[in-house]
Amino acid sequence: MNVETAKVRVQELHDQLNRYNYEYYVLDNPSVPDAEYDQRMQELIDLETQFPELRTSDSPSQRVGGQALDAFEKVEHKTPMLSLANAFNEQDLRDFDRRVRQVVGDGVAYVCELKIDGLAVSLRYEDGYFVQGATRGDGTTGEDISANLKTIRSIPLRLPEPLSIEVRGEAYMPKKSFDALNEIKAEQGEVPFANPRNAAAGSLRQLDPKIAAKRNLDLFLYAIADAGNTGVESHSEGLNLLDKLGFKTNPNRQKCATIDEVLEYVDSWREKRPDLPYEIDGIVIKVDLFNQQEQLGTTAKSPRWAIAYKFPAEEVMTRLLGIELNVGRTGVVTPTALLEPVRVAGTIVRRASLHNEDLIREKDIHIGDYVVVKKAGDIIPEVVNVIVDRRSGEEQEFHMPTHCPECDSELVRLEGEVALRCINPSCPAQIREGLIHFVSRNAMNIDGLGEKVITQLFKEDLVHDVADLYRLTKEQLIQLERMGEKSADNLIQAIETSKSNSLEKLLFGLGIRHVGAKAAKTLAQHFETMDRLKEATYDELVAINEIGDKMADAVVTYFSQPEVLELLAELESFDVNMTYKGPRQVEPSEIDSYFAGKTIVLTGKLEQLARNEAKAKIEELGGKVTGSVSKKTDLVIAGEEAGSKLTKAQELGIEVWDEARMLQELNK
Ligand code: IVH
Repeated sequence: MNVETAKVRVQELHDQLNRYNYEYYVLDNPSVPDAEYDQRMQELIDLETQFPELRTSDSPSQRVGGQALDAFEKVEHKTPMLSLANAFNEQDLRDFDRRVRQVVGDGVAYVCELKIDGLAVSLRYEDGYFVQGATRGDGTTGEDISANLKTIRSIPLRLPEPLSIEVRGEAYMPKKSFDALNEIKAEQGEVPFANPRNAAAGSLRQLDPKIAAKRNLDLFLYAIADAGNTGVESHSEGLNLLDKLGFKTNPNRQKCATIDEVLEYVDSWREKRPDLPYEIDGIVIKVDLFNQQEQLGTTAKSPRWAIAYKFPAEEVMTRLLGIELNVGRTGVVTPTALLEPVRVAGTIVRRASLHNEDLIREKDIHIGDYVVVKKAGDIIPEVVNVIVDRRSGEEQEFHMPTHCPECDSELVRLEGEVALRCINPSCPAQIREGLIHFVSRNAMNIDGLGEKVITQLFKEDLVHDVADLYRLTKEQLIQLERMGEKSADNLIQAIETSKSNSLEKLLFGLGIRHVGAKAAKTLAQHFETMDRLKEATYDELVAINEIGDKMADAVVTYFSQPEVLELLAELESFDVNMTYKGPRQVEPSEIDSYFAGKTIVLTGKLEQLARNEAKAKIEELGGKVTGSVSKKTDLVIAGEEAGSKLTKAQELGIEVWDEARMLQELNK
């Protein structure tokens, strides 16, 4: 075959495969058997191998995931991707309707849609070709995830018309794909995703599009970014146009003429929600006509013409089979409810933390009780209450033990705390949990050293403290259950790599009380080396912004322990890095600017700069911008129509500048 003939055939195959794709993934109504699709695809791939010049970016063969990336590029959204204000009950929706009608009058119609629980993405087409897909990010800047989005088969790579258009929608993982993915994760001993939304987000943030390609993601489009330019006059017409262009929109939308109709729609989906093949977390209600949307306008965060009704967190009844005790890294003993497995908000729940004995008393929880369970924030399972009416009399009261379930030393209740603690520093549970923390992602990030391996290493007496990790040999690792040669090699390599981590990772990993990942970074940035931090005094520590007295105390106490100094010396002898490698923090005193080290309040309308731009520039010059005027304020910058903050500044005798004066100083 010559290239000319091949070109014609490739074009035919594109058209056919695009049509099959559309029928299968958008219409859910395939017209040919899978085998025929596969055969055409193979023919296309063969032709593209023979004539690589015919392989175009919109080829249906390009969906399997190309080259892995090093990082995602940033994408500035031409029109911001706003979020929605929330409504939680009927009254909130009626209030919304009243506000809308106050502005546009009674002739308003709404479009109700399902609020898909995934993540917002934006797709850009130029002359009909898909050119870029991005995440929402902070609404102004997102990340270019084109390669991953291309793997979603319902997204057309080419439109039937040569349109330049930006469309937006929700990427999600269907329940079925989610269950299958979590099953594989569980089999491989990996941590499962908490819900389909996290799974979708995690999949689209993979740098290797081949992984995203395997995740069976999908996308419902819900808006055209600049719909006014397409000639349509309402949101519902916009959705119809999306359909016409071959996009997948959600079919369950409904136009409603009154708020009562909206409420009926909302109620009907409360019932039907569990039967959907994907998760929804509410209903979105939008004013239909664009001219009315314009009249209503938007606030900085969200449009006034739309609202999201959020369903209350799903609550399910199950039985409390028992209570297990866990000793954490800091010695706190936590009771955990063991539940009869039950599906809540997307996943099977088997356990829920009961936090402490006071909470068990407060909720009057007995072993054997029927309990109501929900997921707080749709992630963390919790016992809401007990169904006392269902008690048979067999239920048993629960009491916290007096001794540590792991090392049997007496538990204590520290002053002002509800928690019971084991204070034995050689308690094996604490050491094990400390090791798990040390290798975790935000700490030393040692891949392949999960909870299971740590527990084994501990049981086999191979590690007792974090320094022992750096003594491990491949021969020792191979002895462990389910550890092959390759995994052992990888693990040794990961341990080796962790030696060059920047100081904050080590600091966080050491598990100094009150020092979280953020504080560890602040400390590392400030002191730059472990040696200097070791010598830091309480006064030096509290002088740092963001370091409070409790943390300062804990740091001083930590480094005063001879065992700690010994451990650090050991880590150092293994060449574990003890210096900060990130960008240097510039002290306000080093910046030659009027704003350096000053506390500043911005108020009123600025003409030249947006408020957040002004804030960013001032901060760049070492100033601290706060929201309210107090005696600590050094300077107030008052734009047009400044109100009570300006008055207060004048009362307190604080220096006040206008915008022009600020710009003069910023531009110096
Ligand atoms: S409209 C300016 N419609 O919910 C309005 N959003 O905070 C843009 N979402 O970030 C959103 N389903 O990710 C709209 N049918 C739907 C939606 C929907 C899910 C998400 C979207 C947005 C969030 C609202």
